Amino acid sequence: MDKFVINGGSRLKGGVRINGSKNAALPIMAAALMAEGAVAIQDVPDLADIKHLSDLLGELGMDATRSDGRLDLKVRDESNSHARYDLVRKMRASICVLGPLLARRGKARVAMPGGCAIGSRPVDLHIRGLKALGAHIELDSGDIVATAKRLKGAEIFLGGPFGSTVLGTANVMMAACLAEGKTVIESAACEPELTDLAEFLNEMGAKITGAGTPRVAIEGVKKLAGRPHRLIPDRIEAGTFIMAGAITNGEITIANVRLDHLMAVADKLREVGVMVEPAGQGVVVSCARRLEPTDVTTQPYPGFPTDLQAQLMAILCLADGNSIVTDKIFPDRFMHVAELLRMGATIHKEGATAIITGIRRLIGAPVMASDLRASAALVLAGLVAKGTTTVARVYHIDRGYDRIEQRLAALGADIKRVNDSDAAKAASE
Ligand code: EPZ
Repeated sequence: MDKFVINGGSRLKGGVRINGSKNAALPIMAAALMAEGAVAIQDVPDLADIKHLSDLLGELGMDATRSDGRLDLKVRDESNSHARYDLVRKMRASICVLGPLLARRGKARVAMPGGCAIGSRPVDLHIRGLKALGAHIELDSGDIVATAKRLKGAEIFLGGPFGSTVLGTANVMMAACLAEGKTVIESAACEPELTDLAEFLNEMGAKITGAGTPRVAIEGVKKLAGRPHRLIPDRIEAGTFIMAGAITNGEITIANVRLDHLMAVADKLREVGVMVEPAGQGVVVSCARRLEPTDVTTQPYPGFPTDLQAQLMAILCLADGNSIVTDKIFPDRFMHVAELLRMGATIHKEGATAIITGIRRLIGAPVMASDLRASAALVLAGLVAKGTTTVARVYHIDRGYDRIEQRLAALGADIKRVNDSDAAKAASE
């Protein structure tokens, strides 16, 4: 398994370009299951998660061929609608094939995804929404088995105990596109990735209004025709690079950023003393002083995103005072705390809240990646820590960031990827 070896202390300088959004790409790839004809998605990032879903779609009868940033998708065979546990367990987002398979083929067997490092990942809202459209759904040996002759439009409340559901909204919205009549989703998730999905579905002939708001209406149509689509930029990757510029007191220009998708993040960073300003199709980030502490609570979009909670915590470890971080979306999403403590941070976790007492320096140490975004937080901490930090199990990072170590190194970071045998050899020399 690969590790990152980081020597802290470099201030990041220069420019970087943000890739297309992973979390827009995944449901859009699944939506291609409903298309008659070819689909071409542009600016698709080269990530393990994209590869995993491509492999699953291949088993479901779809050819997926990648050339540079373009992904060409075409359904060749609709006879297999079983998304096997062995594939689904590798990536929870695979659940987003459920709605398209049910709507297009009238049946689906999709393994329950199970939990992951950030918490138990229930899908009860997905099931509730699809049942409201008339699907018959039962559980059989860990699989969701869904059938429906023809789905019928309905008024559906999709809110759960933690607010809206992103992929639950995606599943119900996609299924409703081919249902008979009108569907209204109340308490829909408003994330930009869903707006991008709705735009793609409408390009294919769907009739969706209200995407990006809590109330989405879908008029069912008979078919959807394959179309090209360019993905929105990845706001979480952008937020991660913005925070890399901030934590190193650097000055970087980040291209291909939709700052309007990052209002809560830019607002919070400006509050603590980071300069984040629009520059053409991107932003300029600079930070020349010690940051102020702050309090932050993650919320569904447009609130502060849970996917940037760990990265912000890394910054707040060095703030001039006490900060409070609460994750209302995933109350257990604090795997990064124990690793930051190994680097000398002062953090006290109490339920879904962490209290961070700012210190002057983090100290490099061997740490362990656990989930995609916690791992990114450890890289940020390593960029600024005194001495050497090794981050193990970087396959977690490769799921959501394309060659992050090369792109950070191009900004002046002292970071390189080694595999375990190289690391052992280097250590023995
Ligand atoms: C999406 O996951 C993202 N993944 C996650 O990003 C992100 O953290 C999450 O939304 C929240 O913004 C993709 O888009 C591929 P949810 P999703 O359903 O849709 C509860 C990353 O780093 N819930 O919006 O699976 C759930 O437990 C990933 O790229 C139910 O209770 O998340 C959570 O507390 C990690 N019942 C809350 O809702 C359900 O049926 C939000 O989950 C579904 C969800």
